[in-house]
Amino acid sequence: MAEAAVGAAVTVRAGTHADIPGFRDLGEAVVPPTYGPIDEAYAQRMLDEWWVAERFEASLAVNTHLVAECDGQVVAMAAFGLLSRSHRDFPHVTGEREVMWKLYVHPDHHGRGIGSRLLAEVEALVEGDELWLEVVDGNEQAFAFYRAKGFVEVERVGDGVWPDDVWLRKDLRGTRRR
Ligand SMILES: CC(C)(COP(=O)(O)OP(=O)(O)OC[C@H]1O[C@@H](n2cnc3c(N)ncnc32)[C@H](O)[C@@H]1OP(=O)(O)O)[C@@H](O)C(=O)NCCC(=O)NCCS
Repeated sequence: MAEAAVGAAVTVRAGTHADIPGFRDLGEAVVPPTYGPIDEAYAQRMLDEWWVAERFEASLAVNTHLVAECDGQVVAMAAFGLLSRSHRDFPHVTGEREVMWKLYVHPDHHGRGIGSRLLAEVEALVEGDELWLEVVDGNEQAFAFYRAKGFVEVERVGDGVWPDDVWLRKDLRGTRRR
């Protein structure tokens, strides 16, 4: 993928194994303020389960990662891939989905268009006509962002213990050239 300028000093490129320490640093900066107000234990669990080197190794093997970098620092990342290649089980789903598993911007860089830029890159790269994602119930800022980008709520999945996952879908037909 060609590098693309975002604002003055931010570039977007494909993520690699060399980015794993940067991903972790990003997670430590963005996960607590995002999920702490919803459920502090959940925020910690997210960091411990999903923002660790082994998990990124596994994800890099099956998903595409995009990195936004500024002065050598990972300031945002996105990851997407096929639901069928996830190691998680989704009993409520029949059929395949292309899913954006992560879109995270460092809090110091919110509101600079970086999230919009990464989302546009992901939408351009997915192969099918739909992009799916999960938002944690209560993450109102992300909900507002995704709704403004054309995503609609499809279903809620919960275990009664942790906050629900809300699945959103965007129909990409008409939003991109073929
Ligand atoms: C949701 C998120 C990805 C959006 O990324 P972002 O780079 O801040 O968003 P952008 O700068 O592209 O802004 C998108 C819109 O939201 C608004 N916005 C979002 N956060 C803002 C902020 N802190 N300050 C000002 N405007 C903000 C912008 O005005 C813009 O609106 P516009 O398109 O009408 O101009 C980012 O806030 C984030 O990482 N949040 C925490 C992690 C998270 O919840 N990720 C999603 C998990 S499902």
